[in-house]
Amino acid sequence: QKGSYKHFMLKEIMEQPEVLQNCMRGRLLPDEGVIKMAGIEQHLPRILAARRLIVVACGTSWHAGLVGEYLIETLARVPVEVEYASEFRYRRPILGKDDVFIAISQSGETADTLAALQLAKQKGCLCLGVVNTVGSSISRETDGGIYLHAGPEIGVASTKAFTAQVLTLTMLALKLAGERGELSPDELKAKLHACSRLPNLVRRVLETQSQVVQMARTYRYASNFLYLGRGFSFPVALEGALKLKEISYIHAEGYPAAEMKHGPIALIDAFMPVVVIAPRSDTNYMKLLSNIEEVLARNGSVIAITDEGNCDLDDKCDFVIKMPEVEEFLVPLLAGDCL
Ligand code: F6R
Repeated sequence: QKGSYKHFMLKEIMEQPEVLQNCMRGRLLPDEGVIKMAGIEQHLPRILAARRLIVVACGTSWHAGLVGEYLIETLARVPVEVEYASEFRYRRPILGKDDVFIAISQSGETADTLAALQLAKQKGCLCLGVVNTVGSSISRETDGGIYLHAGPEIGVASTKAFTAQVLTLTMLALKLAGERGELSPDELKAKLHACSRLPNLVRRVLETQSQVVQMARTYRYASNFLYLGRGFSFPVALEGALKLKEISYIHAEGYPAAEMKHGPIALIDAFMPVVVIAPRSDTNYMKLLSNIEEVLARNGSVIAITDEGNCDLDDKCDFVIKMPEVEEFLVPLLAGDCL
């Protein structure tokens, strides 16, 4: 039931603080520096000995997988490959017993992801799932996994499931980082405490978006949008573009911000709004500022997503969406809510 909400998507957007809480409940023990994941615990030796993790998914779940790649490689230093299930299953991938396969799926029923999983299983990979729907086909075929606990997602586009997928992959990255000694016990505890503050921070993001109506009016006749981000935020830019396409029927492209100069810059003019995810915690924040200047020099309209304390962009951009300041690895969880 959608209760007092106008539609399911809005309800599911507003549920996100609770979803994050449910996803962490019983798993995250910040004071002890422990992350419990009952569904993968018995497979941990094989995961830790793996040559690489292969993450396979479609659509939004693939974007979450890309964020996971940045997180797991940066924090845990384990090689990760992310593939579209529809390509993976048909391209005779080279797989072995040393590989750990992770299927990501909200529904747990996507045919390409299921087929890719069955292929990986045949080749002897340990097969894990990051799935929302309990008892779904993908969850039944895997050797173990992590449920999202996001509740049913009815709306198009995916909202709370994407957030829960990214949080789950963040917890997995931190768990592997702790097990591999890439983070000291104190560093791990600090990062877990930072995660535990997320539900309140996301609530704040959702409560403070007063510009949405004005933005929608300003851009209602736009036929194209560009979304830019770097590092952890690059997959979030891809997801932003997908959401706009699905919901507004406006063509949109997501790009790594530095790639703009290799082609898309030719398209920028006053009729091309550009969304730039530019928090100051981004390792390449100064480069993002240059990207914004390049857009402005071509009369482009910039919508910046940045942190609350940042005033650098207030006078330059048409709209500045602010989110609480967090460490770089947590930015996708807040920026994703601003899209
Ligand atoms: C986008 C969206 C789709 C799904 C994709 C995979 O909002 O919903 O792109 O993400 O079809 O679906 P699942 O995650 O159920 O495998």
